[in-house]
Amino acid sequence: MNTFYITTPIYYPNGPPHIGHAYTTVYADVLARFARLLEKDVFFLTGNDEHGLKIQRFAEKLGKTPKEVVDEMATVYRDYWLRLNISYDYFIRTTDSVHEKVVMDSFRKLYEKGYVYKDKYGGFYCVECEKYYLPGEYVEVEGKPYCPIHNKPLEYLEEETYYFKLSEFKDFLLQVLRNDKIVYPEEYSLEVTSRIEKEGLRDISIARPVERVSWGVKVPFDPSYVIYVWFDALLNYITGAGYATDPSRFEKYWVNVHHVVGKDILWFHTAVWFSILKALDIPLPKKVLVHAFLINKGLKIGKSAGNVISIDDLLSRYNGPDGVRYILSRVFNMSKDSEVSFELMDAIYNDELADTYGNLVRRVGALAMKKLKGKIYRREVDKKLNEQITLRLNTYLERMGNYDVPGAIIEIMELLREGNAYVNNTRPWEKEDPSKELYSLLELIRVSTITLAPVIPNAASKVAEEFGFRIENPARVQLGVLERYNIRNAPILFKKVMPQQST
Ligand code: MSP
Repeated sequence: MNTFYITTPIYYPNGPPHIGHAYTTVYADVLARFARLLEKDVFFLTGNDEHGLKIQRFAEKLGKTPKEVVDEMATVYRDYWLRLNISYDYFIRTTDSVHEKVVMDSFRKLYEKGYVYKDKYGGFYCVECEKYYLPGEYVEVEGKPYCPIHNKPLEYLEEETYYFKLSEFKDFLLQVLRNDKIVYPEEYSLEVTSRIEKEGLRDISIARPVERVSWGVKVPFDPSYVIYVWFDALLNYITGAGYATDPSRFEKYWVNVHHVVGKDILWFHTAVWFSILKALDIPLPKKVLVHAFLINKGLKIGKSAGNVISIDDLLSRYNGPDGVRYILSRVFNMSKDSEVSFELMDAIYNDELADTYGNLVRRVGALAMKKLKGKIYRREVDKKLNEQITLRLNTYLERMGNYDVPGAIIEIMELLREGNAYVNNTRPWEKEDPSKELYSLLELIRVSTITLAPVIPNAASKVAEEFGFRIENPARVQLGVLERYNIRNAPILFKKVMPQQST
């Protein structure tokens, strides 16, 4: 199985992406780039979730049509992903006609198979979440039901609707969630399992009357209804891989699909999505990789809390995409929310990128140019350093293989610290011919650069080019075989930032 298909959630374009969206997207990008380095056939999908009440209201507020707004915002999102060096292969939009057709055909198929039926529905609805909250799920503020995520009053809605028979999939879901290790880390699987065990599974409404929500895909056989935005959105993962247009391509990638999602949308990506797939006779995803939130002073970063950190500020403060990508990858955490502030981000950037990686590259490059005119020929790699490089590289590969990007990065930072210590201890500047020391150090820099390439692709390419080596498959790297390094420049990769007090 040499394909690797990875997806991000598709984002609601009712504002530009912020640090929280970048967090998910950069993580997916690092995994995509790592898989490409391992010579896999990668397909990386991201995009926007363009239908539904949230977008409809956002457009009304701007005095524009929803279509105008989503068209503009698609450009805005693409532009941010470009500036963050996100190497997606396809940008899906739920207003794509091919996608809309998949949504309609799937809805019809489920109706014909008896998984969809019409009935009355009443309940409390959150427009921001685009979902109904059941008793027990919402919080009460002064006796009124409030959305637990957005802390806003819920609207009571009553309507005839189409239901999806989620309840039929209870045993299937429990069996899969208990045994198949699809959801990672496993604690999230347990979370869903215990919710199903405790609350059971109710059928869910998957359409809205067109007079309430006009902006969406119509129910094909009943145009007075619009298909629920989550049903529409989840199907992006199959449309994007060519489900309707190129079945062989779809099959090739689908067998190894990885969905990256925040824990807020875990339920949709397990209970709901797995059941829809089962009902459509499509195999379940290989992995659902779930992460926790970026928080600031204890609150989830987002538009609702008003504590957004903009991608523009990050890009300018940390000198372009590499700095931002590194920081986000470094604080990435699947299980625990990560508190971020400029103070913390400055410290990571300065200590690790500037003082550890940048410093070693600069020092070794400058020494090589001064002492040996930049030409460092092959020598036996220092035995201890060789062992350290090999060990750290293996741990890195293992961690990346377990989707543990921050753990893998930390390992390489340790290696780079060992490199800096080796310079201090061996004092190559005092030697007439420090070839052995410098060759050993360059091997360490080469391995570090290759392994960090998925996170800081620009800096990695620059070092590889200036020092004369190739960014290659890290699983195939061999030490002590490169004939010669040819150092043309000792670049300053990361200019330090002036530390700022907390945000
Ligand atoms: N449109 C739906 C997803 C549909 S996928 C079929 C949606 N969109 S969203 O714009 O609200 O973005 C959700 C995703 O953005 C979250 O699942 C998470 O991955 C990411 N994040 C947004 N804010 C975040 C943080 N503060 N921290 C971490 N991730 C965050 O839900």
